[in-house]
Amino acid sequence: MTTRVPTPLPTRDLHPASEADAPWWRDAVIYQIYPRSWADAAGDGVGDLAGITSRLTYLRDLGVDAVWLSPFYRSPQNDAGYDVSDHRDVDPAFGTLADADALIARAHELDLRVIVDLVPNHTSWEHEWFREALAAEPGGPERDRYMFRDGRGEDGELPPTDWLSNFGGGAWTRITEPDGSPGQWYLHLFDPSQPDLNWQNPEVRAHFEGILRFWLDRGVDGFRVDVAHGLVKKEGLPDYDRHPGGLLEVTHEAPYWDQDGVHEIYRGWRELLDSYGTPERIMCAEAWVAPADRLARYVRPDEYHQAFNFDFLETPWLAEPLRAVIAQSLAENDAVGAPATWVLSNHDVLRHASRFGLPQGAARPNGIGAGDPQPDAELGLRRARAATTLMLALPGSAYVYQGEELGLPEHTSLPDAVRQDPTWLRTGGLERGRDGCRVPMPWTKGARALGFNTTGAAWLPQPQSYADLAVDVQTGVEGSTLELYRSLLALRRLRGLGRGALAEVESLGEDVLGYVVTAPDGERTLVLVNLSDTPVELPEDATVLVASDDLDGRKVPTDTAVWATLG
Ligand code: GLC
Repeated sequence: MTTRVPTPLPTRDLHPASEADAPWWRDAVIYQIYPRSWADAAGDGVGDLAGITSRLTYLRDLGVDAVWLSPFYRSPQNDAGYDVSDHRDVDPAFGTLADADALIARAHELDLRVIVDLVPNHTSWEHEWFREALAAEPGGPERDRYMFRDGRGEDGELPPTDWLSNFGGGAWTRITEPDGSPGQWYLHLFDPSQPDLNWQNPEVRAHFEGILRFWLDRGVDGFRVDVAHGLVKKEGLPDYDRHPGGLLEVTHEAPYWDQDGVHEIYRGWRELLDSYGTPERIMCAEAWVAPADRLARYVRPDEYHQAFNFDFLETPWLAEPLRAVIAQSLAENDAVGAPATWVLSNHDVLRHASRFGLPQGAARPNGIGAGDPQPDAELGLRRARAATTLMLALPGSAYVYQGEELGLPEHTSLPDAVRQDPTWLRTGGLERGRDGCRVPMPWTKGARALGFNTTGAAWLPQPQSYADLAVDVQTGVEGSTLELYRSLLALRRLRGLGRGALAEVESLGEDVLGYVVTAPDGERTLVLVNLSDTPVELPEDATVLVASDDLDGRKVPTDTAVWATLG
């Protein structure tokens, strides 16, 4: 049995084209670099800024528009740099401020924009403000920069609320006062080494405006904002007796997520960014917020430019939910005039080449260990390639996580002894955590640490399977995942897909996705994704531009996606 695509194509409009001269960020493809794992010039096993600068031409050749760098600021690295102790300095593990300047300058020479991470919900406990807070009296201005409270119970021995940390355990830690007595508690929605800031305090707000300016003045093009939905806590800090699991079930009913007060902060930041003129400086919210219309509030015209579309990332490899999330994402963003964003992997989730090799529809595990059920690597990669082919055809902006262009799987057999994610420790090993998606990049098969550096040191060991996926093995090889990404990115640009209008093709059957993208200049591209178990025959007037895997003549096999011209 073969499914035939009807002609003429019955379509339903989902989204209008954007202006041909719309600003750069509306359709940008942004490549996430996880600095400790991309390229290590110093050879100490931790990637660094000089390493990144030396390899930026790879990204120009890949065809992305911008890079987003996860934090490289001064930090004791308790949460891989998301625990910042000085926002205006580079951690010695990653280099110096001069290295950051050199990176930005080189990226701009290559026509790549640079987005840096901003972590405003918390600082490191080694931040000078937190040290001052610990040394000061309760109730004073130093403590007021953070969320200190007296405990409950007769002697304050119980935490002020029942809130839980995202990394496991309680969200409050009790301190010892300078005089040695058991003292107040401070809030940390994440690790105890990441105390939450008090965003009701004007000093905190002014401080972060200074940080934004510091990096804008150094030439960055924007910010990815960490935990953008967490800054403001509900008045009075009420208990929350329902405990959703982790970052995902985030509704504003939780007294610490998605509170209305966050928006005023972002309006201020938007004004600040806009004052830098063109090209526009942007901000993208990491906001794990549900439902979708609550997320859309972050990208109203005077707030964020973009917000990560985690609903898309969380969607299983099943046609109906994919169809629904694509339509809904476009509708919610169009309602506020924002571009949709698309993302399949990042440094916090299982790599999509592994995720799609697990049974679909079940909850995504937070990491996989040697003793856990293992993904089907071949199936996962096949689906991942098809998913990316779908993603890069969709209008809006897309995020690519380092190594996905090589088809890297999650490292699913890391020895527990080398795990560093605080989740692993704080859940007592219940959750393996995120280390498996953070393993250093393979550049050169046969080289030490697969070319990550020249010494062979690596902060996490690479799995054996990475050797055959190294950049040098795939470069110039027809059909490799790297060449697939290059083709997709080049065609996306050439055919104006990111700025196109999108219509859904109807009557293809439940398990086949079809879209027609019409570029601002009128050029049409057909996108077909076959999630059914029978082949789909391309319409006669279609000429294939790129396919995620081999076609069988004019037939698109299961778990394969195609772009084609029409007519
Ligand atoms: C965000 C980051 C994650 C980090 C957490 C705390 O979710 O992406 O890596 O652990 O915030 O800063």
